[in-house]
Amino acid sequence: MISNRKVQHVEICLYEDVEAFTSTLLEDVVLVHKAMPGLSFNEIDTSTYFFKKKISAPLMVTGMTGGTQFLGKINQTIAEVAEEVGIPMGVGSQRIAIEKESAAESFKVVRKYAPTIPVVANLGAPQLARGYGLKEVEKAVSMIEADVIAIHFNPAQELFQPEGEPEYPMAILEKLRDISKSLSVPIIIKETGTGISMEVASLMSSFGFKNFDVSGQGGTSWVAVEMVRDKAMGNWKAKSASLFANWGVPTGASIVETRYSVPEAFIVGSGGIRNGLDVAKAIALGADVAGMANPVLKRAMEGKDSLREFFKRTIFELKSAMMLTGSKDVESLKRTSVVIWKGLKEWMESRGISLSTYEKLRKRER
Ligand SMILES: Cc1cc2nc3c(=O)[nH]c(=O)nc-3n(C[C@H](O)[C@H](O)[C@H](O)COP(=O)(O)O)c2cc1C
Repeated sequence: MISNRKVQHVEICLYEDVEAFTSTLLEDVVLVHKAMPGLSFNEIDTSTYFFKKKISAPLMVTGMTGGTQFLGKINQTIAEVAEEVGIPMGVGSQRIAIEKESAAESFKVVRKYAPTIPVVANLGAPQLARGYGLKEVEKAVSMIEADVIAIHFNPAQELFQPEGEPEYPMAILEKLRDISKSLSVPIIIKETGTGISMEVASLMSSFGFKNFDVSGQGGTSWVAVEMVRDKAMGNWKAKSASLFANWGVPTGASIVETRYSVPEAFIVGSGGIRNGLDVAKAIALGADVAGMANPVLKRAMEGKDSLREFFKRTIFELKSAMMLTGSKDVESLKRTSVVIWKGLKEWMESRGISLSTYEKLRKRER
């Protein structure tokens, strides 16, 4: 049953070690310190825009859950705090609620408790291969009065999931392009922790999709999550899953590759974003907003106060990085001086992205 699986996913993310062993490569991005910032802390403005709505910081909660009463409660907690803080929130795959009306309530709570922030609907790309069309996509959007819908691409997870269905024919993109022509909201092309490469970003762009949530490798590993489930079920795929647990394009590299191949893209930099300094690095590197999933889930389980504290600290850290780079607002942070070295520099070199070309792209209006 899908609902059992969704509860298991949350439990595994909370109680098992499913963080990738390898890194996001954001440690290879240095924000250059300014001994004379030329501004006061109180002047710093972290606000920005997310699909035409003003938000308080370039940070969002990426899609995680929904489907049962317990999971609806988690959605409610996140929604209430995200609304207070003024940042966007995504829900988990709404497939379960498309197939079972009674599951819809656990998603609807999000709009009920977050009436003003941008809310992001969610469906999986494989569903389009299995018959979903405009009707189902529009239903997911209207269910939570979403401002935008994320269509997630998770081939690695589907491969190693005991009951996975790794179906990714090109027909998905053709169908999605047709859907996008009549859909009431924009579409975000979203990964789930294995990242978007420049080849995929260019392909998506050729189909007219220019909004991405890169969800790179270096944070929650969905192959590792499925490995835990494989093991528990005695499934032979467990050993193969452990081999691929760190598969993917690291988040830092994925932000660079997406910005490089689709310069005008709107980019959510996510996957392994764990604090406000990571947020600042993701933005300076090329993202428009940063996104977090598992750290938010963990705080939400502890309660609203814990989640409030977490966002407060994260935004303080982001502002600190802005202060120390002399960035008075998010637009300045996007153009602040950075050093890209070590692994990320090597990654870029091996992918044919010159540092100087990228520097120009990073600093142009976006
Ligand atoms: C419990 C949980 C459930 C998730 N379910 C979904 C989902 O249904 N759809 C989706 O697009 N991403 C889903 N994700 C993936 C996240 O949105 C995110 O891309 C990924 O976990 C990497 O971010 P992180 O390292 O901050 O956790 C889920 C993540 C978590 C932790």
